[in-house]
Amino acid sequence: MRHFLTTEHWSQSDLQDMIDFAKVLKKDKFQPLLKNKSVALLFFNPSLRTRTSFELGVHQLGGQAVVLQPGKDAWPIEFELGSIMDGEAEEHIKEVAAVLSAYCDIIAVRAFPKFQNWKDDRQDRLLKSLAQFSTVPVVNMETITHPCQELAHIMALQESLGDLKGKKYLLTWTYHPKPLNTAVANSSLMIATKFGMDVTLLCPNEDYLLDEHYMALGQTYSSQHGNQLTVSHDIDSAYDGADVVYAKSWGALPFFGRWEKEKPIRDQYKHFMVDEAKMAKTDNALFSHCLPLRRNIKATDGVVDSNNCIAILEAENRLHVQKSMMNTLINT
Ligand code: CP
Repeated sequence: MRHFLTTEHWSQSDLQDMIDFAKVLKKDKFQPLLKNKSVALLFFNPSLRTRTSFELGVHQLGGQAVVLQPGKDAWPIEFELGSIMDGEAEEHIKEVAAVLSAYCDIIAVRAFPKFQNWKDDRQDRLLKSLAQFSTVPVVNMETITHPCQELAHIMALQESLGDLKGKKYLLTWTYHPKPLNTAVANSSLMIATKFGMDVTLLCPNEDYLLDEHYMALGQTYSSQHGNQLTVSHDIDSAYDGADVVYAKSWGALPFFGRWEKEKPIRDQYKHFMVDEAKMAKTDNALFSHCLPLRRNIKATDGVVDSNNCIAILEAENRLHVQKSMMNTLINT
C-alpha cells in the first residue's frame, strides 16, 4: 500500500505515469476505476478547487466521496500522541484513522499549518499520524506541501510547452495582506526542479527563503539534471528570459507566530506583484498560480486575463490528475 503524502516519495517516472494517465482521463472522463469504492475527504481548512475536484473525480470514477469538516460538521480531532484530551478535541486521530479505514478505501486530508511555530508545523504530524494509523492509502490535499497541485501544474506546463527540461522557471514571491502557507511554494520548487527545469526563486530577502528541507531537495533535484537552483532578490534579472512565471505569496518562516513584526516588512514589497512590465522581460512566459488569487494584489488583471495565463488550465487539471493518482493508489 502506498500513500500520496508528498511527491518526495515518488520518482519522476511514477509521477509522469500519473500525468500521462490523467491525459487519457481528460479525454475519457467516466471510467469505473473506483466502482464500489469510497473516499473520505477531511477538510480542516476551506477549499473551492480541491473539494470540488475530488468530489466530482470520485463520482466520475464510479465511487462515493464523503466530505467531513472536523470541528464543524465532525468532531474536533486530537493528533498528538499521548496527549491528555482535556481541550476541544473529542476524539483522537488513532480512532479517526481506524474508523475511516473500516468504511473507506482512501482517506484524503487538508490541514494547513497552525502558523504559530514553524518547528512544529514542519513536522506535518497530523498527516503523518493519519498515515501511520490508517490501513488504507492516505492522500495529502495540502498540508505543508500540495502534491496534487504539483501534478496539475506540471500537466498544464507539459500541455503548453511540451518537454520541460531546461525551461527557465521563475517562482516568484508576491505580496498578500496575510501571511500565507508555504505549501505551494515548497511544492513548486520540488516539482519544477524534479522535472528538470532551470529554477529561480525570487523573494524579497533571506527571511522569505523556503524551509531548508525543500531548498535542499530543490538543489538535489537540480543537480541531478545538471541545473542549479538560483535564489534572487532582484526582480529584473530574475524575470529576464523566463519561460514560466509561477506566483505565490507566503509568510516569512522566521516570523511564524510573530506576524505583527513581519507585516510592516512584507508591506514594503507590494511591488513584487506580477504585472505586464515584469512579464515583458520574460521570453513570452506562461503565467500561473494555484488559485485563489487576489487580483491587482498578487498579479494584475492584465496578466491574469492574458492568453499566457494558464491558471484555469492548471485548476481544471486537478480533476484529472487526482483521478489518475487515486487509480494508482487503488488499482496498481
Ligand atoms: N489550489 C487549491 O488548492 O485551491 P482550493 O484552496 O480552492 O482547494
